[in-house]
Amino acid sequence: MTGDLFDDACAPTPWVQVIGDDAVILRHFAIEWVGELLEGIANIEALSPFRRQQTPGGFWMSVSMSNCGSFGWISDRKGYRYAAVDPVTGNLWPAMPALFYQVAAAAAEQAGFKGFMPDACLINRYEIGTKMSLHQDKDEQDMSQPIVSVSLGLPAVFMFGGERRQDPVQRFPLLQGDVVVWGGRSRLNFHGVMPLKADLNEPNAQVGVRYNLTFRKAC
Ligand code: SIN
Ligand code: FE2
Repeated sequence: MTGDLFDDACAPTPWVQVIGDDAVILRHFAIEWVGELLEGIANIEALSPFRRQQTPGGFWMSVSMSNCGSFGWISDRKGYRYAAVDPVTGNLWPAMPALFYQVAAAAAEQAGFKGFMPDACLINRYEIGTKMSLHQDKDEQDMSQPIVSVSLGLPAVFMFGGERRQDPVQRFPLLQGDVVVWGGRSRLNFHGVMPLKADLNEPNAQVGVRYNLTFRKAC
């Protein structure tokens, strides 16, 4: 009992940070499911390993990626797209664990997007020094559906701009358990992640990497 009380008293309080029109960071939203989400990633990785992908322009992305769900986001010299089959294994992508789906749907609802039914979850793995350049998520068919992005492991700095590449960019630290949801008027906003920093005093330093789950309604 004492233990329970102690745990509750120490659990970080969830709160909502507005970062744009129809865009929020749900601070600590996924904190209680971190262990299970990391286990889910390990199971997915065993079936569809992390790999670096090439951009249509021939550059190699620094972040490694895998996917789960009915569709996975892939990139190669032929372009960016969603595919039902993992091109590395030749098999369907691993199924999306029920918990992943539930966390994403609950976060979307909390952010004002009721009825979000993701069919794709891109899993990004950031090693120290890797980054994601500013880009728009625009390979999905239905732009009325939001993007839900869950941070795990090491902290990162998220960049959130506007609809035009040259619009001003805000920077927000993202910690393990934080969930960013953007849709509606911000659905096509440019966003990215600054190069991941090493911090040995960081409580999640033992994880050694940052994972990001981005849930989409792709098709
Ligand atoms: C993404 O834009 O796909 C990833 C964002 C993040 O890693 O927080
Ligand atoms: Fe993105």
